[in-house]
Amino acid sequence: MDLNSVYQRLNTGSKKWSQYPEDVLPMWVADMDFPVAPPIMQALKNRLEHPLLGYSVAQDTLRQTLVEHLARRYGWHVQPQDLVFLPGVEPGVNMALNTLAPPGSGVVVQTPNYSPLLSAPANWKLPRVDLPLQADANGEYPTDIAALQHALLSARTFLLSNPHNPMGKVFDREELQAIGDACVRHDVLIVSDEIHADILFDGRRHTPVASLSAEIADRSVTLMSASKAWNIAGMKTAFAIIQNADLRERFNAGRLGLVDSVNALGLEATHAAYSQGEAWLQQVNAYLQDNRDYLAHAIKNRFPGVRMHLPQSTYLAWLDCSALDIQHPQAFFLREAKVALSDGLEFGEDCGQFVRLNFGCPRPMLEEALARMERSLQPPA
Ligand SMILES: Cc1ncc(COP(=O)(O)O)c(C=O)c1O
Repeated sequence: MDLNSVYQRLNTGSKKWSQYPEDVLPMWVADMDFPVAPPIMQALKNRLEHPLLGYSVAQDTLRQTLVEHLARRYGWHVQPQDLVFLPGVEPGVNMALNTLAPPGSGVVVQTPNYSPLLSAPANWKLPRVDLPLQADANGEYPTDIAALQHALLSARTFLLSNPHNPMGKVFDREELQAIGDACVRHDVLIVSDEIHADILFDGRRHTPVASLSAEIADRSVTLMSASKAWNIAGMKTAFAIIQNADLRERFNAGRLGLVDSVNALGLEATHAAYSQGEAWLQQVNAYLQDNRDYLAHAIKNRFPGVRMHLPQSTYLAWLDCSALDIQHPQAFFLREAKVALSDGLEFGEDCGQFVRLNFGCPRPMLEEALARMERSLQPPA
């Protein structure tokens, strides 16, 4: 598939392309500008050959496909009934906090973090306990396990983003084992958002935290979706994996007439992604890795005031603009470059000097965004 072609998405109802005026290049929300994998499109067309689109449920074939995917990809063995289908990962996070976290109990969240994860505890009047991710000498962001142990003393839930948005951090097995063991020791529930699990660079592997031991699985709600890796977020289909039957029942009760059943076409698309989407996924992962390297090279050589953390997953680059000495970099690039980036402030109260750039797009679009941003920083002639 040709990933270099730029598709016109104005007037398609795309959230990414509707948010700003037409002359703004949107590099913000986590939605890629690549056409959907052909097997997914074909599955949708096949489904539409049948003229009825009533309420839908996940069929056994989809459950089986996902069970096999989890076993093959991560060596994680779950049962078909452990899967709970949802219209999104975000509703799943909120259902878990609402029904499984004891009233008023603390929720540990690593900061910075994806804004709906930062704000979810407050939705349920649960205090957020921040655990800052700080760079070590190698520029990596390891979890401070001693600080985690301390934070868990005042919490009953750990909300994990793995791989992490916006840092693009892939947690390795040892780090996850230490996190999981700490949660077991402190009797803390783990809600693990693993929506970016299938976008991986440099030969890295994703580890679901719940796959590490029966004790960890017993207290985990894992949330996944084909929506990021296969770029089908508009299909509104995700799934939770909850191996503990009691947790699963309480989680499901949290739908409360607010979290609806799943989308008929989303189920088809999800099935096609996990059963026939591997070739497309590999091609896109390779393309994204090249885009990441191109971007990192450009930032280093053309943007002396900007520092980029090299993401290991996701198509999101976390850019530190503090040395530019601009009061609000996101607003500056929107106004002066007509490039819409995500505002660092969404990811943490102290991240106003950061922007997040979505490089999940054809290379010409990325080049255009960088050219505009570079020009906006030139002193006036
Ligand atoms: C870490 C993370 N979790 C959840 C979501 C949203 O998931 P959904 O659209 O399935 O609610 C996103 C979207 O960008 C994300 O990056």
